[in-house]
Amino acid sequence: MTVKKRNLKYRINWRDARDAILQERIGGAKLRFDPDIQTKSASDFSKRIKEGEYEYGRKTVEAFSGFLDPSMGVLEIGPGPGTVTVPLSKMVRQVTAVDLSLRNISHLEENLREEGRENVDVIHKNWLHTDDAVLRDSYDLVFCSHFLWMIPDLEGHLEKMENASRGYCAIVQPAGRGDLVKEVYTAITGREYGGEFEPDGDYFAYVILREWGRLLNVEHFSFTNTMTLDEKVRSTASFIGRFVEVDEGVAGRIRDLVLPHANENGEFVETNNVVVMWWEVAPTKNK
Ligand SMILES: C[S@@+](CC[C@H](N)C(=O)[O-])C[C@H]1O[C@@H](n2cnc3c(N)ncnc32)[C@H](O)[C@@H]1O
Repeated sequence: MTVKKRNLKYRINWRDARDAILQERIGGAKLRFDPDIQTKSASDFSKRIKEGEYEYGRKTVEAFSGFLDPSMGVLEIGPGPGTVTVPLSKMVRQVTAVDLSLRNISHLEENLREEGRENVDVIHKNWLHTDDAVLRDSYDLVFCSHFLWMIPDLEGHLEKMENASRGYCAIVQPAGRGDLVKEVYTAITGREYGGEFEPDGDYFAYVILREWGRLLNVEHFSFTNTMTLDEKVRSTASFIGRFVEVDEGVAGRIRDLVLPHANENGEFVETNNVVVMWWEVAPTKNK
């Protein structure tokens, strides 16, 4: 039993563009200025979503309101610290959240505890190694947020999502980045910024799904992030470090470049956009 797809003679060649972008990103960020950066960055992220009172997640749940039902069982792929998981778990019967990072899982579990959520099963697993035969038609909603660049095979990922759903699928993806990190990229690397660390991957998924004949509902919202100077330096370094090694000298330059952009409280406030796409899987199944 497979999900029906259209067999098109003419297809958009999205693959080359996506592969080229991925080629530039490959390899973890080279961050030599702080041995604890990954632990600190994960905790910065968790702190940030809580300080923002889960704005990103609450607005995602609002965007899901066209189909969400309190009786739903949901599979979330790559929940991180619970950006969407926490608010969504308040609106549905049950959430299963699969993540391969123990660091992020510990933040997720702490945040679920703090919010008294008991309807979330947290599973430490690589989504790509889950068994499609076991997952088939198991959830009313299967979704991922800020995840599309984490996997090499986008079509395979979308197929796996549809396989596990008996109702709906959704993709939530930040769209664009703030200007400051792009300015710092140019100042440090000497290269004009060309979208190298843009998070939007939604358009690749859109093209694939439309080629398959899926009818997508597309919405968007904006949310605000606030960071301290140290957090802003770590966050900016995590992007720049994919292109040049960030040692103490480069980290110092990043600090000098971002500092003038702090507000009167010494904080960095940034508003970013997010795209939400959802579609009904069930009607196209088994046709
Ligand atoms: C950028 S974070 C997004 C977190 C959250 N969904 C959000 O929107 O803020 C991506 C998450 O996906 C997880 N992840 C990446 N690849 C994965 C995989 N193959 N299987 C399961 N989780 C994965 C990472 O550990 C991380 O927690």
